[in-house]
Amino acid sequence: MSQDQINLFANVETESATDSAAHNEKQIEINTLTDQLNYHAHRYYVLDDPIISDAEYDRQYRKLEALEAEYPEFKRADTPTQRVGGPPLEGFEKVRHNVPMLSLANAMDEDEMREFGFRIKRHLKVPSTTIITYVIEPKIDGVAISLRYEDGLLTMGTTRGDGVYGEDITGNLKTIQSIPLQLNRDGHPIPSVLEVRGEAYFPRDVFHAFNAKRLAAGEPTFANPRNATAGSLKQLDPKVTAQRSLAAFLYAPALSEGVTFESHWDFLSALEGWGFQVNPLGRLCEGMEPVIQGYHELMALRPTLNYDIDGMVIKVNDYALQERLGAVSKSPRWAIAFKFPAQQETTQIETIEVQVGRTGALTPVAHLTPVNVGGVTVSRATLHNQDEIDRKDIRVGDTVVIQRAGDVIPEVVKVIRDLRPADSQPYRLPKVCPICGSETERAPGEAVTTCTGLDCPAKLKASLQHFASRKAMNIEGLGKKLVEQVIDGGMVRHILDLYRIDLEGWMTLERMGKKSATKLLANLEKSKETTMRRFLFALGIRHVGEGTARILSEALPSLQQIYDASLHDLENIRDIGPIVAASIHRFFAQEKNRETIQALLDLGIHPEPPLPKETTTTEDPNFAGKRFVLTGSMESLSRNEAKALIEERGGKVSGSVSRKTDFLVAGASAGSKLTKAQNLGITILTEEDLTTMLQ
Ligand code: IVH
Repeated sequence: MSQDQINLFANVETESATDSAAHNEKQIEINTLTDQLNYHAHRYYVLDDPIISDAEYDRQYRKLEALEAEYPEFKRADTPTQRVGGPPLEGFEKVRHNVPMLSLANAMDEDEMREFGFRIKRHLKVPSTTIITYVIEPKIDGVAISLRYEDGLLTMGTTRGDGVYGEDITGNLKTIQSIPLQLNRDGHPIPSVLEVRGEAYFPRDVFHAFNAKRLAAGEPTFANPRNATAGSLKQLDPKVTAQRSLAAFLYAPALSEGVTFESHWDFLSALEGWGFQVNPLGRLCEGMEPVIQGYHELMALRPTLNYDIDGMVIKVNDYALQERLGAVSKSPRWAIAFKFPAQQETTQIETIEVQVGRTGALTPVAHLTPVNVGGVTVSRATLHNQDEIDRKDIRVGDTVVIQRAGDVIPEVVKVIRDLRPADSQPYRLPKVCPICGSETERAPGEAVTTCTGLDCPAKLKASLQHFASRKAMNIEGLGKKLVEQVIDGGMVRHILDLYRIDLEGWMTLERMGKKSATKLLANLEKSKETTMRRFLFALGIRHVGEGTARILSEALPSLQQIYDASLHDLENIRDIGPIVAASIHRFFAQEKNRETIQALLDLGIHPEPPLPKETTTTEDPNFAGKRFVLTGSMESLSRNEAKALIEERGGKVSGSVSRKTDFLVAGASAGSKLTKAQNLGITILTEEDLTTMLQ
């Protein structure tokens, strides 16, 4: 569609609509919405320059979806709604490439680059002083793909395979938003058949978020974005691929029937005009010296890019020259890859140190024999958690392959088993916190191991902020900044110290006059008269949120009762599950925690047991302790309203679907969360089901 047709959805009734009014108004509406959504998706995913809000896009998308459901006969082949993924396949079909997918020869250093230039001139039989024009492009470290368009419409997408036969992964490639389903007709003329080659990849930020999620869910992570891309493209269910948010750069022609190009630079600009994502770092270079300079510039840019590159590709620009140069065995003579120095090296693990983070999470870090990786000395690598250590079977003394990817903390890729010392032992995270000596815990089903110490210095800032917060001890005026100041200044080394600072002590702090200090002391004093529920919540026991603190205080109104409760007693409290019960039990079983609690009571903190009326709650057995996930849009309620109503009844609302989810409430246009919930066998509620339950 052309620029002047873009009306930001203000009015879908375009001129062509009136022309075709005789046909079908709905068809025109579907056509217009399809064009406009494709246009805006291109602006968003390819040009990175959206001109409408996500919410507006979503509204129009849902409108198109609804229209397509009603009039499937008008659904267009390039509808954006198919990007969510079609039905799962039994397997991928093998397809023969019309033009084989070649690979590239490598140059290892600058001399080999220059030699490539000389070779070209010798082959072309031109004087050595001739200046050849090259195009340089980043070598994208993803998965090679080939796309076929017939009359401008995407008809086939394949993997490279062995270069001669690839696999038909059309359904998966259609989920990649930066791949046009239909070529833009306002750009360069459209070939009757176009086959283009490129690289699908995982944007780095998306990859890290994706791996973090997998790690948190206890699922195996991917070693790097390329492996994750390959894994995602090999999914038989395109809906899974759709959730991975891959992207693609296109960079080479294979077939272009009816339209020819003089140079690679022209071809790249046609690709851009047709709507493909073309890498913005491509440059035209006159002769070899600018190529080598470009290489150093690209290497410097490498850590800042949001995608992995493993070198630079140099191509002769002139297609007539390319033709004359031809190919040797499996690679063309007119191009070469100039690889970057390796980002992986081999070294040894000397020790494993355990760091304790702000939230109490234990992170094992390998101390390595220092090694140079791609120009940077690396002496530490993160081991993430016990699962990662077990999965890779990492041990002290092991020789390991480590990897540095851009600005990311180095990681251990694998252990070289053959070099393992005979007496090595599997590594286990410590049973006690290396900072405070309290027990560590790893709740079943969770990947992270945490310190259970109430006042572990490693997590003191976070625990203190939580302790003072409104729903906990409600110490007015004691916010994040003040907490940081008193800890950094050494005035507070322990939760108890908070109640021990006197007027003068408070007055030593920045911008704290006598008046504010007096007020703060009064607030501290006031906070001592609290409820059991607040006090239990303030202790920051893992898995004990406000709701659980209330349930616990109602079931066991005194601290003595809690101390006396066995794990079994705790598990028998309504709405306290085994994981939460175990966490509570472990917390109170620790002498150190009991001592701190006693000292707090000695300082005058007085947690009131719940009044009888507090025990009559608005809890509803249909909701209490149940986990809900809301997705799609609802008509009668906003998300926030639904959340509040569920929480009022004792339910929990979380943002993502996991095995722990009890109900998924699916509103209109529910997408990937619905699919995931269905796959996990989670009960799906409609908006109506939810409103009935709420009544
Ligand atoms: S041109 C005739 N350009 O590197 C070969 N390839 O080892 C045409 N690659 O299989 C390839 N970025 O998967 C070309 N800008 C780029 C590239 C690139 C990555 C990959 C591609 C190819 C491999 C060659």
